[in-house]
Amino acid sequence: MKIRSPIVATLGHVDHGKTTILDQIRGSNVASKEAGAITQMIGASYITQETINGMAKRLSDKMKFQLKIPGLLFIDTPGHEAFTNLRDRGGSIADIAILVVDVMQGFQPQTIESLRILKQYKTPFVVAANKIDLVQGWKSYEGEPFTASFSKQPEHVQQKLDEKLYGLMGKLSEYSFDSERYDRITDFSKQIAIIPISARTKEGLGDLLMLIAGLSQRFLGDSLNVEESGKGKGSILEVKEEKGLGTTLDVILFDGILRKGDEIIFLTSNGAQSTKVRGLLIPNIGGKEKFNYVDEVVAAAGVKIFAPGTEDAMPGSPINVVMDFEDDKKALEAAFHSVVFEKKEGPGVILRADSLGSVEAIVKLFKDAEIPIKDAGVGKITRKAVVEASNVAAADHYLGVVLGFNVDILDEAREESNNSGIKIIWSNIIYHLLDQYNEWVKEEKEREKKEMLAKLPWPGKLKLLPGYVFRVNKPAIFGVEVLGGRLKKQYKLMNKAGEVVGEVREIQKEKEKVEEATSGQQLAISCDGIDYGKNVQEGDILYVAMGPDEIKLWDTKLGMLNDEEKTILEEVKRMQKRYF
Ligand code: GTP
Ligand code: MG
Repeated sequence: MKIRSPIVATLGHVDHGKTTILDQIRGSNVASKEAGAITQMIGASYITQETINGMAKRLSDKMKFQLKIPGLLFIDTPGHEAFTNLRDRGGSIADIAILVVDVMQGFQPQTIESLRILKQYKTPFVVAANKIDLVQGWKSYEGEPFTASFSKQPEHVQQKLDEKLYGLMGKLSEYSFDSERYDRITDFSKQIAIIPISARTKEGLGDLLMLIAGLSQRFLGDSLNVEESGKGKGSILEVKEEKGLGTTLDVILFDGILRKGDEIIFLTSNGAQSTKVRGLLIPNIGGKEKFNYVDEVVAAAGVKIFAPGTEDAMPGSPINVVMDFEDDKKALEAAFHSVVFEKKEGPGVILRADSLGSVEAIVKLFKDAEIPIKDAGVGKITRKAVVEASNVAAADHYLGVVLGFNVDILDEAREESNNSGIKIIWSNIIYHLLDQYNEWVKEEKEREKKEMLAKLPWPGKLKLLPGYVFRVNKPAIFGVEVLGGRLKKQYKLMNKAGEVVGEVREIQKEKEKVEEATSGQQLAISCDGIDYGKNVQEGDILYVAMGPDEIKLWDTKLGMLNDEEKTILEEVKRMQKRYF
C-alpha cells in the first residue's frame, strides 16, 4: 500500500482566477498565454510537499502540521459554460476541489454549475474567495497569510470583505452547504471553509494550500491508499510529438499503477486500440534532461507514455491497463459512441477538434443551440471533411460548413474549400465557433435575400383609373391605383389572363419621378408595350408579371410578404395554374 497525492480540481466561473491561482503556486505564467485566456483543456500540475511547506512557511504555527501526502496533483478546468463535460470530468476525477469565486462578483452561472457537479460526485471542497485585493480600500501585503494581512486592514475594509463573504455563505446555504471563513471554523467535517485570497498578490495562497493538504489527509483517508496491484486508470490530456521519441501521451493516472511493458487501451477515431508501454517519463523540473525515465507510476500522477501506435489516440480519451481486451474495448467504445462514432443521417455541420473533451463540449454547445452535427471527431481538417460538407450543402446550404477547433487545416482541404466555396470556420475558443457559425448563417441569409430581392419582382396588383389616359402608346401614360403589393420601374405587367402587356418605364407621383409605388397610392406611370384601348382598357386590373420559377421562389419566402401580398401571389398563381 502506498499513499498517493490527492487530485485537486479548480472549478468555477470564467475569469474568476482558477488558472492564476495555479500559476502563482507553480511560479509559472500560463494564464496570460492561453488563447482567449480561457483554459481550454484540463491541464495538470504537480506540487510537491516541499512547495507546499515553502508556500505555507509564513503561516502561523497554529496552521503547521506534518504533511504525509507526497504532494498535490492539480487539475485546472475551464470556466466557460460550454465546458460542462470537462468540468464534469475534472470533478469526477478529483478527490477534493477548490471552488474559485471572484469575491467582487459572487456566485455566477458556472459557479453554480460547478457546485452542482461537486454535489453530484460528493467531492469535498473549499471555496477560494479570490481577488480580495479588489475590495475597496484593501492594502495588499504580498504573499502574507490571510489573517496577517486581514488584521492590518482598516476596520471598514475588514467589514466590507466580511460582507462579501456573508454573501457567499448565503448562496452556499441555498444549496444546503453550511460554510464559514476558514479561520473561524470549529468543525471542518461540517462546514465548508472559505479562504479569502488574492491570486494576484499571493495573499492567503499558503493558507489555501495548507488547508487543502490538511483536509485531504484528514478526510480522504483510505481513498488515498493505492494497491500496488491495482489496474492503472487514467485520462489522456494530450497527444504530443517529442523530439527523439515520436508520439507520446500525456496522461493523468488517477487510479492504480502503470508499469513499463503494460498493455494499455485507449480510444482513436476508429475505436479502441491497444499497445504496449515502451517508456514512462516524468517531467524533470529544473534538471538538465527534460524527462526522467521511471519503471512505474502510481496514481495520482501526471505521466508521459511513450508507446508505438499511439498516433491516433484521442486527447481526452480514457486510458486503462488492459485486463481483458474485448471487455475493455466494449466499455470504452460504449461510453463515447454517441459523441464520436455515430454519424448522423440527414444534414448537419462537420466538426473536427483537438481533443475528445473539446468534441464533447462543442457537440453539447451546438446541441443546445439546436444546430445538428452530422459528423464530429478528433483530428485535422481533411479534403474529405470539406467534400462531406459540400454534400450537406446540397441539401441544406446553412449546414454545409466545416468547423475546426484548434486543429490544422490541411492544404488539400483549403484547396477543396476554395474550389467548392464550402466555408471552414476555425477558432481556438470554443464559444467563438458557435458565434462565428451564427454570424456566417446571418451573413449568408442577408446576402441571399439581397440577391433574391434584386432579381425577384415583388407581387403587385393595380387598377387602371378611368379618365386618366394621358397618352395611348409609345409609351402609354396613364393613371393607376396600386391595389396591393409593390410597383417598380422595369417591372413587367400582365393582365388577368396571365399575358404580358407591357413594361413600366417611369413612375410619377405628384409630378415627381419615383422608383417605387406601394399599396393604396394613386399615380401616373409610363409603359412600353401598352396600347391603351387595344391591349388594355380603362378599369382593367393588371398584375406584376411573374413566371412559374419566380412564384416557386416566393413560395419558399412567404415570411417576407404581408397578407395582402400573399393574396396577390395566390391570384397570380391561379393565372399560371397550368404550371402548378
Ligand atoms: P477560465 O479558465 O477562463 O475559466 O478563467 P480562470 O478562472 O482560469 O481565470 P484566470 O486565472 O485566467 O484569470 C482571469 C483574470 O483575472 C486575469 O486577468 C487575471 O489576471 C485576473 N485575476 C486572477 N486572480 C486575480 C486576483 O486575485 N486579483 C486580481 N485583481 N485579478 C486577478
Ligand atoms: Mg483558466
